[in-house]
Amino acid sequence: MNLEKLGLKEGLLYEIIATTLNKKGKNITFNSAPMGIRVLENGFIEISPYLSTQTCNNLKENGLISLNLVENVFFYAITALKLENRLNFSGKLNEKLYESKEFNKENIESNLKKNDITKSFSIPYLKDSWGVIFCVAIEEKPIIKKDVLGSSNTAKFLLKPLLVEKIKESHKLINRAENIAIEIIILATRLKVAKKLNNKVMFEKILKEINKKIEYIKRFCKNEDVFKTIKHVQDFINIINN
Ligand SMILES: Cc1cc2nc3c(=O)[nH]c(=O)nc-3n(C[C@H](O)[C@H](O)[C@H](O)COP(=O)(O)O)c2cc1C
Repeated sequence: MNLEKLGLKEGLLYEIIATTLNKKGKNITFNSAPMGIRVLENGFIEISPYLSTQTCNNLKENGLISLNLVENVFFYAITALKLENRLNFSGKLNEKLYESKEFNKENIESNLKKNDITKSFSIPYLKDSWGVIFCVAIEEKPIIKKDVLGSSNTAKFLLKPLLVEKIKESHKLINRAENIAIEIIILATRLKVAKKLNNKVMFEKILKEINKKIEYIKRFCKNEDVFKTIKHVQDFINIINN
């Protein structure tokens, strides 16, 4: 599969937005979350979601995933922080954000549970992406990740690309403010974990780091999407603080 068409190089790590299917009986919803991926030498892709994420559950259940390359940093904020669930407009968001691509079962060799993959199936993707890699998980290994918040259980999935699509031309270079905005979103997801673990020291430390980065960005940034992202992170902090 030609990943180079999207400029992705073997051995490198990228941040993408992973869209998966959440099937509960006949009720199917789509889920998106930023995730890191690594492009392997054989053209396969590795992704390591924490066991606590919906992305991990969905991959275990049906193995279907699209890796979306988006230009707007605000997408990372809304898909990482799930504020829309709390504000209760996820249904509408679903309809507006996604489209689906049809596939046949013949090109699937998945070792994962695939009972619910029928003869033809579809994989959702984000309409606003400039590039999408449609994949199926063919292998899963448990791993333990260690970071400042302690060790956490993660699953490493090996993804086989089924189709690589360039939806539109993108010459987007992530600039300094957007880079810092993405770091702020990652910190906000850690803040959620510190809160869950009731680790007040860590919570305050992460909060301080977020506020420092926000103050720094404000000094030079003129990018509306970055400001929207910061506002979203601040709303998120207010919600988890109450
Ligand atoms: C740039 C970026 C990269 C991320 N990479 C990962 C990752 O590789 N694995 C992971 O479990 N979470 C990662 N996260 C955090 C998840 O996106 C976040 O926990 C999200 O709420 C999970 O959503 P889900 O439960 O719908 O899957 C990342 C967040 C950002 C902003």
